[in-house]
Amino acid sequence: MTKANNAAGAPDSALAFNPHVAALPTYNAGLPVAVAREVSGHSFIARLASNENPFGCSPKVTAALSSSAFEPWRYADPAARELRAALGKYLGIDANEIVCGNGSEEMIAAIARAFLVPGGLAVTVVPSFGLHEIEPLANGAKVIKVPMTKDLAFDIPAIEGALARKPQVFFISTPSNPVGVTLDLASLERLATANGQSTLFVLDEAYREFTEPGFPDGLEVLRRLGVPHVILRTFSKAYGLAGLRVGYAACSSSEVARVVNAAKTPFNVNAAAQIAAVAALADEAWMRDAVARINAERERVRKVLHGLDIWMAPSQTNFLFLDCRGDSSECAQFLLKEGVIVKGWREAGYERFLRVTIGTTEENEKFIAAFKRWLNR
Ligand SMILES: Cc1ncc(COP(=O)(O)O)c(C=O)c1O
Repeated sequence: MTKANNAAGAPDSALAFNPHVAALPTYNAGLPVAVAREVSGHSFIARLASNENPFGCSPKVTAALSSSAFEPWRYADPAARELRAALGKYLGIDANEIVCGNGSEEMIAAIARAFLVPGGLAVTVVPSFGLHEIEPLANGAKVIKVPMTKDLAFDIPAIEGALARKPQVFFISTPSNPVGVTLDLASLERLATANGQSTLFVLDEAYREFTEPGFPDGLEVLRRLGVPHVILRTFSKAYGLAGLRVGYAACSSSEVARVVNAAKTPFNVNAAAQIAAVAALADEAWMRDAVARINAERERVRKVLHGLDIWMAPSQTNFLFLDCRGDSSECAQFLLKEGVIVKGWREAGYERFLRVTIGTTEENEKFIAAFKRWLNR
């Protein structure tokens, strides 16, 4: 329970907390490794809760951070010009349509702040990435969460129905976090058409680098159909820069970018993150190699779990969403004691599901062995 009194014993209840913020649900973050060591007594921990890259990052990133270009005593460029110029070239769009964030999560917060006021409306799906709900709630908006189908596919007609309510913002991740499934081209086009002109379509592509050929080019689709949008991407996953915090918003116009930019803090992307992201983007070969290894491991782990008769959603990401045949919080706690950190899903209706990141072979083997013990408990 939260402490209601301050250090001098006086109550805090007279304070004017923003009620929307004070009532927010807690973000379900992965546990730090030190906690897992303490709980399990294991020194080697399988860190499979946060969808990080188990192979680290490009050596060109570490080289850039050791170069004289990195000046920690200077403020970083608040407009991240060099990074936005590189991203503009990479995406084939104007750099003025891009905003860089302290992780793409900051861009989700900035979008919610820029487009939602108390009484506003956002649409998203369930299960989904927690911040797609939390950030609209923080701004006093209502959130319609459209459930996925029983077999964990996007329910396109139901989402079209929710979009007919004309929300100010529509958040969807493809591939989906936590499920791993993707929107195909026809579904994306249907949603873009249903979205209309008064809703900002936020297409969160945090895991796009892990997808198979045939994954639709969201940027091309939304631009072709003239839908107001933001595409979110991150350096935290395939590029392995989760600890540095850098992501970006590719916007449908410089006006959308201007307002998203106005909603962020001025020096949001630190100097190390800007330098690292430019170096990471320039080393596509390293990223592609890491993704190929992770995807191969994912298919290997999937086969093992299939052999155990475990139901999983199809995944084009660096994680699997699986029915753990029990309460997933209990399962996550059981695995933690075995030195494995995973995420037990807590959204109503999905409490039997565990989200497990694909790690190194050694980490995955540790998970499989511990999960077998859970199944045989
Ligand atoms: C779908 C999705 N969007 C956004 C993020 C935020 O990533 P970051 O803030 O590290 O860029 C995550 C992180 O897990 C995610 O899964």
